[in-house]
Amino acid sequence: MNEKQRLDNQQANSSDKKSAKDYSKYFTQVITAPSLKDAKKRGKEEVQYHNDFTIPEEFKGMGEGRKFYIRTYGCQMNEHDTEVMAGIFLALGYEPTDRTEDANVILLNTCAIRENAENKVFGELGHLKALKMEKPDLLLGVCGCMSQEESVVNKILKTYQQVDMIFGTHNIHRLPQILNEAYLSKEMVIEVWSKEGDVIENLPKERRGKIKAWVNIMYGCDKFCTYCIVPYTRGKERSRRPEEIIQEVRHLAAQGYKEITLLGQNVNAYGKDFEDIKYGLGDLMDEIRKIDIPRIRFTTSHPRDFDDHLIEVLAKGGNLMDHIHLPVQSGSTEVLKIMARKYTREQYLELVRKIKAAIPNVSLTTDIIVGYPNETDEQFEETLSLYREVSYEIAYTFIYSPREGTPAAKMEDNVPMEVKKERLQRLNNLVNELSAEAMKKYEGQIVEVLVDGESKNNPDVLAGYTTKNKLVNFKGPKTAIGNIVKVKINEAKTWSLNGEMVEEIEPAEVK
Ligand code: 5AD
Ligand code: SF4
Repeated sequence: MNEKQRLDNQQANSSDKKSAKDYSKYFTQVITAPSLKDAKKRGKEEVQYHNDFTIPEEFKGMGEGRKFYIRTYGCQMNEHDTEVMAGIFLALGYEPTDRTEDANVILLNTCAIRENAENKVFGELGHLKALKMEKPDLLLGVCGCMSQEESVVNKILKTYQQVDMIFGTHNIHRLPQILNEAYLSKEMVIEVWSKEGDVIENLPKERRGKIKAWVNIMYGCDKFCTYCIVPYTRGKERSRRPEEIIQEVRHLAAQGYKEITLLGQNVNAYGKDFEDIKYGLGDLMDEIRKIDIPRIRFTTSHPRDFDDHLIEVLAKGGNLMDHIHLPVQSGSTEVLKIMARKYTREQYLELVRKIKAAIPNVSLTTDIIVGYPNETDEQFEETLSLYREVSYEIAYTFIYSPREGTPAAKMEDNVPMEVKKERLQRLNNLVNELSAEAMKKYEGQIVEVLVDGESKNNPDVLAGYTTKNKLVNFKGPKTAIGNIVKVKINEAKTWSLNGEMVEEIEPAEVK
């Protein structure tokens, strides 16, 4: 299928014509607009795999003499999408810049997970208005998860006319065409697909570093937890074929990368959509661990799909890191039920027990939402008690933020914001306490650190991460950057460790 046919197909498959009519009063060029109704649907049609991405001849050189700047908000998936877009920009002849003032194209790759993430983007669009007035030829684009929301597109149309283009998470491979439209058209160009099931391989990527790399293994999410916008913004679950992933990891190993992180919104659902083979995350990890790459991680897990085979494989250790991020969200079975997490407190604790039995030194981290609609004090106390029982090393904690279009956003909520804030504070106190305790145990120990580079705060000090993903700042030679070294820890802080390098390890020796 060529690009034009694909686009026609997308248009035919969606209710965008209606949306386009709605937007016409803004004199905007709507190619396809987001539709919440379509984003909710999960069709039976097969995932289409495309391996034919090319930069069309007519667009080559489009970026000559021009610079691009991308600001990324949100999760690793977004960071990785930015790497793909940077790869496309470079293939078009653009040069990168890290100053908005020097850019000819500015993209905001946005996050929709909570209201404050969205507010940051609207704030930034406000700031960029002045730059756009100074440089009318500047192209300003909004992409990522927020673009997939009808309400956001409406708000941009009404209030942020300085935006030249809006495109979503499913069509970043169409960046050349979208840029071209935006140069030709004086109107805002909108191309957001809501209904899709494609996997596009062989996209160019400009990775941010030479030491650690992200590898997508699947896209989308079908879990529909009642609070979460991701299934709407990222589409249905679709897995990349194992051969493609393994080839990418081999290639990264050959290029000298030391760590890869397998990425997906719900990596444990990997392979569930394959109709021709029975192949899951455990099988994939078991093959990838044989590749000569010192460190392998994965994120993010959903407890419900975390199966015994994966635990068995992770227990083999070696280059599979002893850290698992396992979002629990709440310690109350009643709240978990309303969240549609599809596991109980007891089932989660049983999973933790199995993981700890198989991987005795494992470090567990989690995500927790407090102040879910109608959450009671007792239910919140259950979250605190579960936190202690699991003894997490770190948690990312959030106050529930209603997301338009999700079932939870329609619920009555009797918990005042004051109470939510107090709960967050109490939870954070516990998180700090257990983190400090976990860190204290490192004092006097020797740990293996993959050295990322100079510390952000002090160029005389190096910084890197342990196998359990603890940040270590230490004194050592610059030649250690990019290597795995041994560091003796002499001081533990709440969130990081300080130490001194004792010996460099050749990567080949790392098992
Ligand atoms: N409000 C607050 N936190 C949320 N998360 C996801 N959706 C919401 C929401 N509506 C949190 C969850 C998830 C993490 C990435 O963000 O804890 O695991
Ligand atoms: Fe990532 Fe979810 Fe935020 Fe999108 S909404 S950027 S997928 S965290």
